[in-house]
Amino acid sequence: MQVVKWISELRTILDSEKSEGKTIGFVPTMGALHPGHISLVEKAGQHTDFVVVSIFVNPTQFNDKEDLKRYPRDLNKDLTLLGSTACQLVFAPEVEEVYPEPDTRRFNFGMLETVMEGKHRPGHFNGVAQVVCKLFGMVQPDKAFFGLKDFQQLIIIKALVKQLTLPVEIVPCEIVREADGLAMSSRNMLLDADQRKNAVHISQTLLEARNKTREMSVKELCKWVITRIDGNEYLKTEYFEIVDDERLQPVKSWNEPVNKVGCIAVHCGKIRLIDNIVFNEIDK
Ligand code: PAJ
Repeated sequence: MQVVKWISELRTILDSEKSEGKTIGFVPTMGALHPGHISLVEKAGQHTDFVVVSIFVNPTQFNDKEDLKRYPRDLNKDLTLLGSTACQLVFAPEVEEVYPEPDTRRFNFGMLETVMEGKHRPGHFNGVAQVVCKLFGMVQPDKAFFGLKDFQQLIIIKALVKQLTLPVEIVPCEIVREADGLAMSSRNMLLDADQRKNAVHISQTLLEARNKTREMSVKELCKWVITRIDGNEYLKTEYFEIVDDERLQPVKSWNEPVNKVGCIAVHCGKIRLIDNIVFNEIDK
């Protein structure tokens, strides 16, 4: 596995792989890798010939500077983890390499970015789009792999690719969970022991909620989830919304002919956790 930090090195290696006819798979990450990330890397290995993983904590997507400072970083540990996976090339640039000058581009994702994460983290998806756009330009992958854990991000990236007609296929990957059900996240390692024990209440509540669609309206169920999570002294819900999986707009009735996903953000002390669950899927 090769590790590079300059775009020029990255391009030399990738040009040579491409000239041999190999397809390039790309997994963008911010490091602090866990089995959720590794599942993307392994999937990339199954679908493409040469797998590139980027490790870059992108400053432009953090609307909260404390969150950026706190974000866990351990490149050596990440490289050891990746060493026994399908990853063949790690791109770990410094901020100046990715942003030699400030990126002033403004993307417009319309209604996709005015809800949930977009509403509560202003500027977040613009920063994600900036960096993903740059990374796609540098790596020029055939396929890029994104986790369903960040459901709204995945939909925004698909919209970005469509808007700019980028020649890359976006491959969604299932959420990987801890043994007790908590969605894996780099931020989980920032939880103390009590917070970690109580954080499981988030995924448990989502699972319970999925069995209640016959007893409650959408609105009642949203209220039930929030009340139940906030009943735990370690947790405070920022939002819980049940949205359709294409336009990300809140659904009003279980009868609407759309796939429904329940998306949640919860504060556990200073740490913000997100998760989601698919409600009834429909045949389209
Ligand atoms: P990061 O949070 O490091 O996540 C990198 C990728 O791993 C994302 O596609 C995310 O959805 C996926 N992922 C994280 N936890 C997962 C889990 N438990 N199961 C499955 N997939 C999981 O998302 C970002 O970084 C950044 O926004 C990035 C796209 C790299 C742009 O900076």
